Amino acid sequence: MDCELLIRNARLMTCDPERPGAGVIERGAVAISGGAIVWAGVDGDIGGVKEASRVIDAGGRLVTPGLVDCHTHAIFAGDRAGEFGLRASGAGYLEIAAAGGGIAASLKATRLASDETLIDLLRERLRLAAAGGTTTIEVKSGYDLTVEGELRMLKCVAKVATERDMPRISPTLLVHVVPPERKADRDAYVKEICESLIPKAAAQALCTAVDIYCDEGAFTLDEARAVLGAAKRAELAVKAHIGQFADLGGAELLGALGALSGDHLERVGDAGIAAMASAGVVAVMLPGACVQLRLPVPPVEKFRAQGVAMAIATDLNPGTSYCEQLPLQLWLATTHYGMTIDEAWLGVTRHGAKALGMAHVGLLRAGAVGDVVLWKCGHEADVPYRYGAANTLVDRVFRAGLDMTAM
Ligand code: NIG
Ligand code: FE
Repeated sequence: MDCELLIRNARLMTCDPERPGAGVIERGAVAISGGAIVWAGVDGDIGGVKEASRVIDAGGRLVTPGLVDCHTHAIFAGDRAGEFGLRASGAGYLEIAAAGGGIAASLKATRLASDETLIDLLRERLRLAAAGGTTTIEVKSGYDLTVEGELRMLKCVAKVATERDMPRISPTLLVHVVPPERKADRDAYVKEICESLIPKAAAQALCTAVDIYCDEGAFTLDEARAVLGAAKRAELAVKAHIGQFADLGGAELLGALGALSGDHLERVGDAGIAAMASAGVVAVMLPGACVQLRLPVPPVEKFRAQGVAMAIATDLNPGTSYCEQLPLQLWLATTHYGMTIDEAWLGVTRHGAKALGMAHVGLLRAGAVGDVVLWKCGHEADVPYRYGAANTLVDRVFRAGLDMTAM
């Protein structure tokens, strides 16, 4: 067998579920051909691989799957640094939102931005994400909130998704909040989302999933049920932002719907956790937003005990987590959330991919996509441990066998 890329002599973190923990092979090798992994295993066993166009000797350093950021709001215009300052002086997130700031402020800036501006801003953020090892990224709409405007956002995302030097994009339609101009006819707004926006987005293949923010200050449980029901009728996957400020019962709903993920989860009860466990719903941890809003830590021990897969994402957004970097989230997950090193890495690889419904992403084994990161350090603990330099420990990033670092 010939291949395009062979990486040898690596501490290979496979994240293969058939191996224990994060599936580390102390002296491993991985071969990529046609954009996919054709072989991964112990370095001494590569007998089947005859020729490789490019061979990299990792010199014993860490090699992992390309990272998966399964929750971002990477497309938006403007910023809210002023609000960050207000919060640093003691103002609350919901208080700022009630005074007309928050998501409504980003709506204004995003609606005013041209397609070109939105696309350029998205590209720049995705470049930064890729520099931190991200090869697959979810991108949500949700900063326009009119039917035509949300479709426009998703079309901008679709344009960037065709570009080979960008991470692989998983597009999501986010039903974020009721926009200010529709507060008086809230029911009609929800109906319009269900009967017009979701069917149109699905018919134009602009997203693979629908997300709704079901929380205090956003949508009620009944509204979430209606919106996610419409998504399922349109044959889209579903997920939700739940339990940041209040537990409205979103986890139980996600379990009943067989959702991909429940995200945030600072406040979730035992029945909700059990519902997620029995339906295989991934718990997406967003420690950057949690720390910034000084929220309680989600019940990691309970998710672990119930066998709920935990993913970790940046939540890249202008309000609560303006961060493109997954390596930094590894630090927060291990230090603040009490996740183990293996759990944290699985959270930004295989479990992140599970939250996107992508079975061939986030692991190194034959048949998976050829997404690989070479690190400048020798052990997986080094990345969260050296959190100040975590993002700079990335050496080379390959997406589907292509060297993104060389582009
Ligand atoms: O995931 N929680 C809701 N949405 C975003 C924040 C959006 C914003 O403040 O712009 C989040 O944290
Ligand atoms: Fe979010």
